[in-house]
Amino acid sequence: MTTRPAQSEHSELAEQSDQSEAATRTDTVVVLDFGSQYTQLIARRVREAHVYCEMLPHDASWDDVARLQPKGIILSGGPSSIDEANAPQLPGWVLASKLPVLGVCYGLYLLADALGGRVAAATAREYGPARLEIIDYGSIFSGLPEGIDVWMSHGDQITALPPDAVPLARSRNSPYAAMACGNLIGLQFHPEVVHTQFGRDILRNFLYNVCGCEGNWTAESFIQDSVERIRRQVGDERVLLGLSGGVDSSVAAALIHQAIGKQLTPVFVNTGLLRAGEAETVQDVFENAFKMNLVYVDATERFLKRLATVSDPERKRKIIGDEFIRVFEDTATEQGPFKFLAQGTLYPDVIESAPSSASKTAVTIKTHHNVGGLPKDLKFELTEPLRFLFKDEVREVGRLLGLPEEIVERQPFPGPGLAVRILGDVTAERLETLRRADAIVREEIEAAGLGTAIWQFFAVLLPVKSTGVMGDYRTYADVCAVRAITSEDAMTADWARLPHELLAKLSNRIVNEVAGINRVVYDITSKPPATIEWE
Ligand code: XMP
Repeated sequence: MTTRPAQSEHSELAEQSDQSEAATRTDTVVVLDFGSQYTQLIARRVREAHVYCEMLPHDASWDDVARLQPKGIILSGGPSSIDEANAPQLPGWVLASKLPVLGVCYGLYLLADALGGRVAAATAREYGPARLEIIDYGSIFSGLPEGIDVWMSHGDQITALPPDAVPLARSRNSPYAAMACGNLIGLQFHPEVVHTQFGRDILRNFLYNVCGCEGNWTAESFIQDSVERIRRQVGDERVLLGLSGGVDSSVAAALIHQAIGKQLTPVFVNTGLLRAGEAETVQDVFENAFKMNLVYVDATERFLKRLATVSDPERKRKIIGDEFIRVFEDTATEQGPFKFLAQGTLYPDVIESAPSSASKTAVTIKTHHNVGGLPKDLKFELTEPLRFLFKDEVREVGRLLGLPEEIVERQPFPGPGLAVRILGDVTAERLETLRRADAIVREEIEAAGLGTAIWQFFAVLLPVKSTGVMGDYRTYADVCAVRAITSEDAMTADWARLPHELLAKLSNRIVNEVAGINRVVYDITSKPPATIEWE
């Protein structure tokens, strides 16, 4: 029925399970991913209901699932039709396990088909909003009103219920929009999306009433379990951590420090490419408030020397990444030895880099184009205490650990720093000019109360001079662009409609207070076609 992973894969999984919640007392539910764009959203909604869950690929073996000791299984939606060639199948272990199952959309069709019902292409395809009429308030719809608006997105429907199943709800086009067969429940609509009314209640009913979960997954329980787990993993060895001042590495540092105190050595590399006040904040928080063994390396000169006369953005990124690794390695050697390297890898990184089969669950080092991406041949064992958390959970954990809002709510800042916001050559002088303009942008947008509504806001220094007039003098100085965008995930973005008065104030202050800038422009381009950064 299941394929057994090879021996080496087994040990990789064993290592993984030691880092995951399942080895503890927390109730767990498994979400099997059949390819829906909403699968991650299901996982997030389950976590919001204080039930721990992990996403596994649809072909996960029972061994992979059993290590999590789940109390229930959720089958996600997916783009396929069940009778298509190569459509993903329901693994045999799902029904054999006797666990409660919730099938969403494609998951419903798989369940109905496996239980002996009939599924066919719908005559009227329901896509988007639909009205659901509830027939049975027994379990999953308990406490809900008679009719609710739900979100459908599929071309199939159940034409004959499985022999032992009962209908729970219907819609105009679908007599069996929800069904149950004992503790096997299917929904044709998506309870995880915001357009479905009471979607959270429906999921909660499944988790609490059908699976019997207690809701014991909280930031507090996560911290408590992680502290134990980190202590078990690390023993009395030393741990090295690259602290960038961003949310992920900061929370990882605070959590590991809580577990092992001075055995942790966070290293903060000041590349000289940071925004005003950033290096000071990191020192204040981690050295002074948390009393960590912070190693602060001022590598400004090393970076500036290598960046002199480099104007190509990709070369800048490469040089900065490479120099960062050199500085980090030098520091690790100086301060070492260390057995472990800690990283602030998050769950979306793990999911995105995982191959499609669970038998090869990924243990990846966060690389991509970022500074802090470390070479794979570093001789450390990894500890990644956040690898099963979503970003908002990381923030909550950070707050509970006592990190200040300016770190927990920090906006994304590119690893190569201000170097990709200075078009053309990066010099100490141009960095100082940009830093001062950027500080004004940040100050004014925050003072206007827009700091959290806007995803990213910053200044960019252009390699263009223009003419101006100040008092009786003509000036010929740099142009500064202001960028402020709204976004959900940085994949797409829109320019923020900042109030004109605020734009006027920004422009005024920058031109008056920052020597070397005599013109300010506002970037009104969305992404796509533009990117968020200018380089
Ligand atoms: P773009 O400019 O590609 O940016 O629309 C998307 C998001 O990624 C950030 N960004 C980077 N982050 N290293 C990073 O760590 C980089 O080289 C880099 N370039 C862009 C950017 O700030 C935005 O949040």
